[in-house]
Amino acid sequence: MTEPVRITEDNGVLTLTLNRPDKKNALSNAMYATLVQELVRAAETPAIRAVLLEAEGDMFTAGNDIGDFAAIATGAKPADTLAAYPFIKALAWFDKPLVAAVQGNAVGIGLTMLLHCDAVYIAEDAKLTAPFADLALVPEAASSLLLPARAGHARAYAVFALGDAISGRQAEAIGLATAALPASEVKARARETAHRLAAKPAGALKAIKNLMRDSNEIASVIEQETAIFAERLKTPEAAEAFKAFAERRKPDFKKLS
Ligand code: COA
Repeated sequence: MTEPVRITEDNGVLTLTLNRPDKKNALSNAMYATLVQELVRAAETPAIRAVLLEAEGDMFTAGNDIGDFAAIATGAKPADTLAAYPFIKALAWFDKPLVAAVQGNAVGIGLTMLLHCDAVYIAEDAKLTAPFADLALVPEAASSLLLPARAGHARAYAVFALGDAISGRQAEAIGLATAALPASEVKARARETAHRLAAKPAGALKAIKNLMRDSNEIASVIEQETAIFAERLKTPEAAEAFKAFAERRKPDFKKLS
């Protein structure tokens, strides 16, 4: 069976490859569980000195599997089964270098996870979106704090509320990405950087990363966002958004108020 997250290790670099290209690498509960397990293992294993996140196919990821959101919205599953939450927490506390290679679209958590990466190589023509309002949801992964800090309030609001995209080139300009490159060069550059980082003194890299972010503040924002996110999943607005996605039509929010 094809594993939806491929795991490989080479010379101190653990590579986690999203491998569900037929569903645009939408993150299922099982994929989140594997990612968390591997981040925890990476944190505890001295021989793993850097982690590289990449994806198969034409797109980094279409974000959370909307079927899993819909199951919570309809009450088929409780809100505490939100599998993204342990992944988000694992990202926020991970203190080894995290490198990402991004091609195509990155939607929702596909964008917000990049705010926790230390080096991001992105295709010039990539499109980062986090259309939380269109799904009747709110930002997650501390992106309500971290995206305005990088992009400014106005652009972050346009991403969250209007669903506007950040291109690969813009991501580089605002410091969300290390470099925007031709798509064919992205994975090789990300891998090269991961190996360069794996050769550096791990203790110094850990201290630098911890100085550059306030994990306690990030964790507190994640708690606030997650509580509101879980509430929003159960709203009629969210039910309409997920139904519209399944029916391949535009949601009609005006009929709800
Ligand atoms: N959850 C579950 N399935 C998803 C998905 C998601 N987030 N995104 C895409 N898929 C599935 C589609 O249902 C489709 O499945 P099917 O072939 O069985 O019908 C398949 O992946 C291909 O998607 P499709 O929409 O045909 O690809 P596209 O290239 O035309 O569009 C996207 C790609 C990412 C723009 C579009 O799929 C999309 O908007 N997805 C939803 C993104 C989203 O809102 N994510 C949640 C963020 S919080």
